[in-house]
Amino acid sequence: MPPYWSLGFQLCQYGYKNLTNLQAAVNRTREYNIPQDVQYADIDHMDERKDFTVDPVNFAGLQDYFTHLQDNGMHIIIILDPALITNNTNYEPYDLGLQEDLYIKWPNESVIPDTDKPDISGTRNMHGWVWPSGKAVFPDFFLNRTADFWRNLTVKHVKTLTFDGLWIDMNEPANFGTNLEKIWNWPEGLSSYWSLKCPENNYDDPPYRTKAAYTYDSESREARLSDNTLCMIAEQEDGQQLHYNVHSLYGWSQTEPTLNALRAAVPGKRGMVISRSTYPGSGRHAGHWLGDNDSRWPHLHESIIGMLEFNLFGIPYIGADICGFWGETTAEMCKRWMQLGAFYPFSRNHNGIDNTPQDPGYFGEEVAVPSREALLIRYRLLPYLYTLFHIAHTRGNTVIRPLMHEFPTDNRTWGIDRQFLWGPAFMIVPVLEEGATSLTFYLPKARWYDYHTGAMVTDNEAKDMSLPIKPDSPIHLYVRGGFVIPGQEPDLNTVASRQRPFSLLVALDDQDKAKGELFWDDGDSVDTYENGSYYFAKFKANQVQVEMEIQHNNDMMSNLIMGSITVLGVRERPLAAYVNGKLHFLDYDSENRVLKIDGLAPYLKMNESFIVEWSATPKATEEEKERLDCFPESA
Ligand code: NOJ
Repeated sequence: MPPYWSLGFQLCQYGYKNLTNLQAAVNRTREYNIPQDVQYADIDHMDERKDFTVDPVNFAGLQDYFTHLQDNGMHIIIILDPALITNNTNYEPYDLGLQEDLYIKWPNESVIPDTDKPDISGTRNMHGWVWPSGKAVFPDFFLNRTADFWRNLTVKHVKTLTFDGLWIDMNEPANFGTNLEKIWNWPEGLSSYWSLKCPENNYDDPPYRTKAAYTYDSESREARLSDNTLCMIAEQEDGQQLHYNVHSLYGWSQTEPTLNALRAAVPGKRGMVISRSTYPGSGRHAGHWLGDNDSRWPHLHESIIGMLEFNLFGIPYIGADICGFWGETTAEMCKRWMQLGAFYPFSRNHNGIDNTPQDPGYFGEEVAVPSREALLIRYRLLPYLYTLFHIAHTRGNTVIRPLMHEFPTDNRTWGIDRQFLWGPAFMIVPVLEEGATSLTFYLPKARWYDYHTGAMVTDNEAKDMSLPIKPDSPIHLYVRGGFVIPGQEPDLNTVASRQRPFSLLVALDDQDKAKGELFWDDGDSVDTYENGSYYFAKFKANQVQVEMEIQHNNDMMSNLIMGSITVLGVRERPLAAYVNGKLHFLDYDSENRVLKIDGLAPYLKMNESFIVEWSATPKATEEEKERLDCFPESA
């Protein structure tokens, strides 16, 4: 179950290069009133890209700044790579792991290539090379002592640099230049090249080459299975495992120890881990981002496919780098990507090194305004998204899903991957092409309402849609009849938005019915559902009323209120609303048939079940009509 804050918008760049640039990105986001919950620090905040360190020159003051952000309701996620540099004197992480003898090893002396001999540590440790300039070793997370080691380092590090979540990267495990003469990031001026070279053997050179090998074929050489990673003959778990057999579990094996380390470092907090390498089962302990995409239009579309897949893999906390990682984005692409990414379960704008900044404020109003609009909708709907995560957590459902999972008998839905759903009730139809002037999409047989106007678009008939698109068109969103979507007034981060009045969006179906549910807890402590410290309410509605029935109450709800109820598909203008039997004003948009009852805040507390009714003209008595004169129709 992800913490509530991790559903907020997140900002990152590899290559802020210094604290000033990082602060500038946060300030621009704030300047345009764009919600933001999480700020990241990538490897450039480290001292020479070494785990568990902070660059004392370019990122001096980072700790104070992060504390300041946290004091203002934001959260911090920092990166950790698995590989640890070996050639630094007094680099404690390496030294401790050496003492504990927990690095991935060569299986025996005889296969250690001369280039890895004499092993500087006098062990059989297998050496690779990643970001820091020096040979590196890889902790073997199949060993329990590695989990202890990782936890101790994390607990110590949080005293130097505060964080709320950990981002574990490069854990395929990635290694640079395996089997090549020269590593791409070999330090300039150092002429004697070195790289990890795997001796020929059946595991590194299996008789039938798999796609994982030939992907890296080049004109000059045939690739090997160990290219870009460790040698397949490496030994793990004190000799019980061959790397060949557990290679794809490296990230998986690192994930639970990392979550446990985080929870030891930040006691009592749920925390969030995102991992680049995952495996079925990883979703229990971590989320995932789709890795290094490009700032190219096709990657907007592909991100939807990736998200749908990862929901099937049981890893619903998923997203792609918004605005793209490799290469330069454009303002138009970033605008459309921010609109789409506002509906990724994991919503993070992340940029690669040496690119122009692409935080939503950087481009000025052209991107900032639509980003803010899309994110405010996301923040408004976070109670629904959080409830979907609760359902995924307790019942194994998907959070994001393709249309075909809700409409399996409609074969038109089977190939749709340019639109997607949040749970059963909310459809997202993004613009995915440059210079788009129209948007074609499909509404399967149900009643669908336009989220922006509340108007009914189709009533239980499948419909092919084609709509004009203008540069300033918002993202298209549709609400499915039959559902009640809980929301909350948005704010600039979730610490603030979680205090605001709740709202209900009721979308009646063709039987004049709707239902929904809300899960709520403190958003941040561990196992709230399992410990019973949560809140759960059900909603049901028809043409004349909406009812909230609390199924599991909690004291924390006593300060929270229901502010407004919007009902889509109310056929006749009601005259009066009754809140728990007491007369109340209402507003009715007869063109779109949208009923809005707001100003409920003083009357409806979230810790008390309620009924809100409305009646058409004949039901109101003369006395009521007179009393209603004192209420403006739209308050
Ligand atoms: C690779 C990751 O995929 C990317 O997101 C990150 O910025 C770089 N490593 C640098 O840490």
